[in-house]
Amino acid sequence: MQNIYSSRPHAAITAIGGYVPQGRRTNFDLEQVCDTSDEWIVKRTGIKERRILEQGLATSDMAVMAIQDLCTRYAKDIADVDAIIVATSTPDVLMPATANIIARKLGLKNVWAFDMNAACSGFLYALDMGASLVETERYKNVLIVGADNISAFVDIHDRSTNILFGDGAGVIWLEPSAEAGVMDAFMQSNGDGREFLNIEGGGSLYPTSQETPDDERRYLRQDGKVVFKQAVQSMSNACKHILDRNQLGIEQVNWLVPHQANKRIIDAVGKEINIQEEKTLTNIAYRGNTIAATIPLCIWENIKLIQKGDLLMLTAFGAGFSWGASLLRWMI
Ligand code: ACO
Repeated sequence: MQNIYSSRPHAAITAIGGYVPQGRRTNFDLEQVCDTSDEWIVKRTGIKERRILEQGLATSDMAVMAIQDLCTRYAKDIADVDAIIVATSTPDVLMPATANIIARKLGLKNVWAFDMNAACSGFLYALDMGASLVETERYKNVLIVGADNISAFVDIHDRSTNILFGDGAGVIWLEPSAEAGVMDAFMQSNGDGREFLNIEGGGSLYPTSQETPDDERRYLRQDGKVVFKQAVQSMSNACKHILDRNQLGIEQVNWLVPHQANKRIIDAVGKEINIQEEKTLTNIAYRGNTIAATIPLCIWENIKLIQKGDLLMLTAFGAGFSWGASLLRWMI
């Protein structure tokens, strides 16, 4: 393979797309189904509404819409894609991978396609993986999708979760670049989170069966307080660590793009790492927590603010527990 770079290439994001479903679930809708209020939800989470995918559609449908949005906006040819990684905790079906379903819907025949499940950290994990593939020079055009149809797993009567989550998909296109677009990534996980944040049903331990269609284990459950504390601590530490090892100061970061779980978590991380609020991108008020989609969707929806050459710090925390931070130089 001819190398046009003096050494191995770096990876850079060269296009971005997104999709949110039309259906809205407002705080006033939730007041009708459980003991809550718009005032409480806004004050404790910063969320006003979420988008909900209609029944009969699934994660792959949102991902395909996001990819088509990317191709239209940036005049990309989908036939050039040689790898797709889909970060999702809500695959269409257990097998095959949602990435394969997306490839079929897009007519891609010779693409390396697989799913990555790292819950809300999934997009950052997949971005690191995709950038590594590009750096090896074995793959040139890699799509990283973050997509979740989490509303299918939310108990509409559970006010500790129904207030938080919404559906959506975001996607970025990675290509070789002489300069580092994906500058660094720091990812970690442990096994401490299972009892605090989970969907227990539908896997091989508790398979879905006709006898248990209303099994409680099909729903996402969490201990909000534990998750809140761990999220603030882990994301703050990851941000500090990645800045330190790149000898960067927080004042050099143009935009913090945190996982959108709760506005109070975002504010607490910002305070802990000492970044100005105006430099923190959010879309949580009208999207809620869209799991693996939050970070690409948040960038996509704030794209007009971001200039070529800006330094972005991304950070996420999710089930597992899993967490991390990435540094990006914006190249488009
Ligand atoms: N509406 C009205 N009142 C409520 C609600 C509600 N939806 N939920 C709880 N309350 C009440 C409680 O009963 C309690 O009342 P009391 O003081 O009379 O006992 C009071 O409000 C405070 O309840 P807390 O549970 O302490 O509320 P908290 O401030 O912790 O907020 C929340 C709860 C929003 C869930 C918060 O803990 C949180 O956001 N945690 C993080 C969750 C998260 O981000 N999960 C996803 C992680 S990423 C992933 O991988 C999926």
